Amino acid sequence: MSKSFKTFLKHTAKDYHNQSVNPPVVRASTIIFKSMQDIRKTQKKAKKDPRGGHFDYGRQGTSTTHVLQKILTQMEESYHVFLTPTGFGSVFLAIFSVARPGDEILVADPVYSPTRLLTQDFLKEFDIKTVFYNPHNLKTLEENINKKTKLIFVENPGSNSFEFQDLGKIISVAKKNNILTAIDNTWATPYFFKPIKLGFDMSIVSATKYYSGHSDVMGGSLAVNKKVFKQVQRADKITGLRLGPDDAYLITRGLRTLDIRLDKHEENAKKIAAFLSKYKNIKLLYPYKKDSFNFRMWKKYYSGASGLMGLKIKSKNKNSVIKFVNALKLFGYGYSWGGFESLALHQDTREQGNRKYLNLAKDEHLVRLHIGLEDPKDLIEDLRQSLKFIK
Ligand SMILES: Cc1ncc(COP(=O)(O)O)c(C=O)c1O
Repeated sequence: MSKSFKTFLKHTAKDYHNQSVNPPVVRASTIIFKSMQDIRKTQKKAKKDPRGGHFDYGRQGTSTTHVLQKILTQMEESYHVFLTPTGFGSVFLAIFSVARPGDEILVADPVYSPTRLLTQDFLKEFDIKTVFYNPHNLKTLEENINKKTKLIFVENPGSNSFEFQDLGKIISVAKKNNILTAIDNTWATPYFFKPIKLGFDMSIVSATKYYSGHSDVMGGSLAVNKKVFKQVQRADKITGLRLGPDDAYLITRGLRTLDIRLDKHEENAKKIAAFLSKYKNIKLLYPYKKDSFNFRMWKKYYSGASGLMGLKIKSKNKNSVIKFVNALKLFGYGYSWGGFESLALHQDTREQGNRKYLNLAKDEHLVRLHIGLEDPKDLIEDLRQSLKFIK
């Protein structure tokens, strides 16, 4: 029987051997075998089938991490998924798997600020040059391609500014020029958009966010196609960037309800967007307004939207915008997102990063909201009473 992915998420990874509905947490550094022949047999199998879950040492994982890899590989419709201890570890692994001294990489201007630091500053020390392109003008991407260009690194939508790019166009430009592609797909997850299916070679998700969903664990996933599998496998082995079994278990547990939570985050976020769209001093950075380029690009590739949005607030009084954020009672102030709770952050220059194409006027301020799973009526009331502080 072919099952829908929603059903698959609920029924997968049962442990019939131990009669438990969830997989066991197998913690191991040493993995014990019955004999030397048994060790060699497992090593042979691992060589022949590197995706198959044959382990001879704990750093390679255990059945607990393998279960999570199998679920994510199916969700991503990818060739394989590598797991890292943080989402940023997956960003690092993707880039260091393929970029080498003398190479150039093209990076979307609005990437997550640590990704920007890695590509803009750190890669220089390895003689890898980074050029940032304008996400709204893909000519800036094409103009900067040359023989040395190895990788195009996309984040969609842009971090904090939520620009949506024409992803199909990026892939066709990359393929025409024989350049590899990677995308940070944390905002949507493959539940709403499957990058490998569209043609990306690598797709990153910070499992810290919606996969785990409960703000209590960190992790990352890097889905790959067959073309880059061997390169990433080699780097994965050498860097030792591996996820531990307890974290893998929590992420697997979170995935059971990923669909339900994301559907509800979207439903709540759309209600909040409808409410905020009535405020003339606020520009919503969320795929809500149907006649915009962002909306069209979102609609073209995505089946849904998650709960993270930006507000561009026009005010000559920055402190009044901070007052608005501080007046919120149901939104916590803190980094990360993707958990069940609502969060708010005033985005200062540090979060905005050193961007060329942010298009933020002096009297415009960025606020990021993560819309959680609370009753949206309460969230709207909270916003209504707090927005009064903006002057
Ligand atoms: C878009 C995006 N990618 C990657 C990361 C990094 O993930 P982690 O915090 O799990 O390292 C974050 C974290 O905020 C993020 O927002």
